[in-house]
Amino acid sequence: MAGRIPRQFIDDLLARADIVELVETRVPLKKAGKNYQACCPFHTEKSPSFTVSQDKQFYHCFGCGEHGNAISFLMEFDRLDFPDAIEELASHCGMEVPREENKASPQEQKKQQQAYQQKQDDYQLMEQISRFYQQQFKTATDKDAAISYLKNRGLSGEIVKSFAIGYISDAWDGMMKVFGKSYTGNQQLVDLGMAIQGDKNKPYDRFRGRIMFPIRDKRGRVVGFGGRVLGDGTPKYLNSPETRIYHKGNELYGLYEAKKANKQLSRLVVVEGYMDVVALAQHGVNYAVASLGTSTTEEQLQTLFRTVKEVICCYDGDRAGRDAAWRAMDNALPLIRDGYTMKFVFLPDGEDPDSLIREQGQTAFEEILDNAAPLSKFIFDHLLARVDMQSLEGRASLVDSFQPYLAKLPSGLLKDSIITELANNFGTATEKQLAKFRKNNADKPQKLIAKTKNKVTPVRLAIALLLEHPHIVNALPDSSVLQHVELPGIGLLNQLLQLCRQAPNIKSAQLLENFRDTTEGKQLAKLMCWQHHVDKDAAEDVFLDCIEKMLNSFVEQRTEILLQKAQMGQMSQQEKHELQALLNA
Ligand code: GTP
Ligand code: MN
Repeated sequence: MAGRIPRQFIDDLLARADIVELVETRVPLKKAGKNYQACCPFHTEKSPSFTVSQDKQFYHCFGCGEHGNAISFLMEFDRLDFPDAIEELASHCGMEVPREENKASPQEQKKQQQAYQQKQDDYQLMEQISRFYQQQFKTATDKDAAISYLKNRGLSGEIVKSFAIGYISDAWDGMMKVFGKSYTGNQQLVDLGMAIQGDKNKPYDRFRGRIMFPIRDKRGRVVGFGGRVLGDGTPKYLNSPETRIYHKGNELYGLYEAKKANKQLSRLVVVEGYMDVVALAQHGVNYAVASLGTSTTEEQLQTLFRTVKEVICCYDGDRAGRDAAWRAMDNALPLIRDGYTMKFVFLPDGEDPDSLIREQGQTAFEEILDNAAPLSKFIFDHLLARVDMQSLEGRASLVDSFQPYLAKLPSGLLKDSIITELANNFGTATEKQLAKFRKNNADKPQKLIAKTKNKVTPVRLAIALLLEHPHIVNALPDSSVLQHVELPGIGLLNQLLQLCRQAPNIKSAQLLENFRDTTEGKQLAKLMCWQHHVDKDAAEDVFLDCIEKMLNSFVEQRTEILLQKAQMGQMSQQEKHELQALLNA
């Protein structure tokens, strides 16, 4: 089993790496005071609000709010996942990434090993079943019907093979007969959604009398199936349920095949059905994928934008198709940075990509793709259709209706162009509103400072100071002074105190790394960006002052509670002692 990357290594790596030097390899920086600056690589701007701090080993953009340490920078800039970003940073620093030996207890190790083994077994079984379904074109008694069905739909043997399409005759035990040989084997087939547990009897085949489309994950492993009836039976398509290896919101049908067919993918088309993906590939458009549910999820869109810079959604022109496109767009908005585009094609009534490409061929279809409507047009058409553009109120409400969508878009060219278009085309009636609106959306530092403005409480200030100067923990004689104090945020502060105490030379970026992908991490990043104007030299004093304030306010609160209890005669013996101690303190 590939071990995890040891926490200690990540720590060492962050200590070794210099964020300024790293960022410099991708974005030219200019020294500005004790920090470095550049125009933000994550949004378009004219004056630099992207700041890199060597002390904190942290970057932050006052325009768009992007921030993080060296690892986050690589994840965002190079669009890498976490382990790959670490590999990249390590190679930048000339370090080799070690993999952890399993430190879990023997019992846990055994469990992990079993879970791992289980998954390997699952993938293997699914692969075998997929092969079995494919063989049916040679062995099934009614194979001719299946073959002619696919032929009638215009598919060649070659394309059927490359998508590993199979078939299963209409029987209760076509698959079970071969694979359901033991009790645990049967259970596994049920767990994987391939068989259904009846009341008492042996489980029976879920998929019967269907053309079988294996769903492969991005590494090509079969994780589920979609099955289409040959005739007019219902349901037309039957899909694998969610299982321990199949989460439909994470997978895209056809992505593995598209990547395999293209060395360099430049765009991907999202369509609705399995048959659409396969038919498009049959006619040379071998870069289509289908989302495996009614709407395209954020995870799926993230995968798409990690793979290509242009995503074209191709849906039916009917109500359902438009709604699906709108939901996909809504999920995609936060992902659309400069350089990335999302476009939309709505097909004429009664057509789908399959029927269209069969009638008109590859060139015509790709022409349609080339002329796809950009996201901004889609938004305008959609929102315009909802307001009465003849009335002043209608025009005014149009601008308002854009607000939630613009709020989701990262700052950049697209956002600017939508705002400009709103102003140019619909501005006359609502000049004031637009002025306000523009102000709210402009890349002005004030906006972000306002957003990250923190209410000054002793806990927050102490956390901010500790993040910035971890060594000030040493000013405390005992890092557990706050152990019994109850105040908002105190748990997090205590955690930080401990981390700082344990690692005397820890730096801000390393501290933050301990909280990656957690709510606390987000809070900490915000505090890290806070300009609290406490000088380096004063940090320790202010920090101690905060701690004292916390202790005092806790004593006050606690005393008050206990006094109230005393008044009502509801005090335990222990509480009496506590109150005495507090009053004597
Ligand atoms: P063909 O008729 O084979 O061309 O399929 P299609 O892709 O044109 O079908 P349709 O537009 O009706 O469906 C698009 C997608 O929706 C399919 O690929 C399935 O993923 C899904 N789907 C369609 N019908 C059903 C159904 O009855 N049940 C379920 N669960 N999904 C369906
Ligand atoms: Mn169809």
